[in-house]
Amino acid sequence: MRDFAGHAALVTGGASGLGLATAQALAQVGVRVAALDLQPGSPSPGILPVACNVADEASVIAALDTAETAHGVARIVVNCAGIPGSMRLVGRDGPVDMTRFAQVIDVNLLGTVSVMSKAAARMMALAPLDPDEARGVIVNTASITAYEGQIGQGAYVAAKGAIAAMTIQAAREFAAKGVRVLAIAPGLFHTPMAADVPPEMVEAITNDAIFPRRFGAPEDFADLCLSMIRNPMLNGEVIRLDAGVRLRAR
Ligand SMILES: NC(=O)c1ccc[n+]([C@@H]2O[C@H](COP(=O)([O-])OP(=O)(O)OC[C@H]3O[C@@H](n4cnc5c(N)ncnc54)[C@H](O)[C@@H]3O)[C@@H](O)[C@H]2O)c1
Repeated sequence: MRDFAGHAALVTGGASGLGLATAQALAQVGVRVAALDLQPGSPSPGILPVACNVADEASVIAALDTAETAHGVARIVVNCAGIPGSMRLVGRDGPVDMTRFAQVIDVNLLGTVSVMSKAAARMMALAPLDPDEARGVIVNTASITAYEGQIGQGAYVAAKGAIAAMTIQAAREFAAKGVRVLAIAPGLFHTPMAADVPPEMVEAITNDAIFPRRFGAPEDFADLCLSMIRNPMLNGEVIRLDAGVRLRAR
């Protein structure tokens, strides 16, 4: 999608961190953005905040309806809504509490799949746009923990690994309708979610990066996201955005 202006986009988790930066970057290039979030922010130029719990199907459908009424069917979907979740598979109190494990899967994985599938179904009914007969593009957010999960990250890793694995699968499934599917696997980014990461872990991760040895900025994520949306030859791919870090075995 080379020309963004006038198209509609859905950005989940669009009120904070990576989602907010992406919503702002899309709005700056003329996209009409609906920022779906559990705690929607206040409206800003080009961004319509929409209350949505991605883990609740009725809430997703209602949010998609609201966004569609305001902006038309979205050709761009960026799934950033997510929660952290730290729990050992076997901790001091015994095996992991499956209710807590499932909550992380519900939001991070099922929420992504729910928005992706519901938005894709609407996108597929649109007219194709260009000589490629493209209808739109979906970018999901995985994590480098999908590849090098560390101790205590099981639920989060299970969700992010599944998002990474589904990228090529969903791209194959949606190809006949001209919908591309992509994912970004971020390293450590400076957002409210990362505020909960203990300082010693932040230092270890940034020190292990190749270069630059710092937190990623949400704008770095948004830049990549827009490049991926723009480039018609990119499909079924998960791109690491992590300054070359590989998480240690711990
Ligand atoms: N920050 C990092 O270092 C990092 C690294 C790798 C992956 N990620 C992933 O990037 C994505 C964005 O994270 P972030 O760092 O910007 O975090 P963040 O906490 O700043 O933003 C997440 C947003 O998602 C929203 N949200 C949470 N649960 C929701 C639900 N059920 N329905 C709708 N919205 C919900 C929150 O309200 C929040 O606004 C997440 O999927 C996260 O797992 C972040």
